[in-house]
Amino acid sequence: MNVTLRIWRQESPVQPGRMIPYQVEDISPDMSFLEVLDVLNERLTVAGEDPVAFDSDCREGICGMCGLVIDGVAHGPQALVTTCQLHMRSFADGAVIDVEPWRAGPFPIVKDLVVDRGSLDRIIEAGGYISIPTGSAPEAHSILVPKDDADAAFDAATCIGCGACVAACPNGSAALFLGAKITHLGLLPQGQPERRSRVLGMVTRHDEEGFGGCTQIGECTAVCPKGIQLDVISRYHRDMLSALLHSG
Ligand code: SF4
Ligand code: FES
Repeated sequence: MNVTLRIWRQESPVQPGRMIPYQVEDISPDMSFLEVLDVLNERLTVAGEDPVAFDSDCREGICGMCGLVIDGVAHGPQALVTTCQLHMRSFADGAVIDVEPWRAGPFPIVKDLVVDRGSLDRIIEAGGYISIPTGSAPEAHSILVPKDDADAAFDAATCIGCGACVAACPNGSAALFLGAKITHLGLLPQGQPERRSRVLGMVTRHDEEGFGGCTQIGECTAVCPKGIQLDVISRYHRDMLSALLHSG
């Protein structure tokens, strides 16, 4: 395959960026999108040019590092995959493909396609944890969890913190991420002691970081590579209401 990648190049957070076209020839349809960027970077490096900065780590859909907006869609045209799981067979030979970073105020651009997603980490720090009492570990079956709750908690826990939901949301809201984190701990017995302080802390931090409010548009769930559903947002709204009613 031969493709043209029109890539957002931006030297630093304070300099203006622009789309630059690059031809990438003789690539396999079975290559991942990131491997094509690797090929391009090898050629740029050999030619003495600055390689394109982009993030990746696991390259198997686990770490959430590799977010890119491809042809206007977070993680590209294939549903339920991260950019590292997207293969070139999803594109036509000769395609012209736009590649941009996540666009959201709380994700400032560091360079080219790399953004700082530390704002999501700070939301987790504000409540996305449980307390672990010291002493010997309890017997595994001494805390019973209903199967439906365990399954729903596990589904919510598959959120990898990639930020695609924010990049896709017209409001720049991280509500789907928030909902996933609050749901996954709130459905389990171990998550109950901090349930109210968790939602208050995380939602406050979310707003302080500059993320927008949720108006239930649903663009977030359409691009979520882990299939997180909108019901997690309803759960966090219920937890928020309960926390506010009990906060005096
Ligand atoms: S909810 Fe989905 S899109 Fe949002 S951060 Fe989690 S995995 Fe990514
Ligand atoms: S590189 Fe880890 S999810 Fe893509």
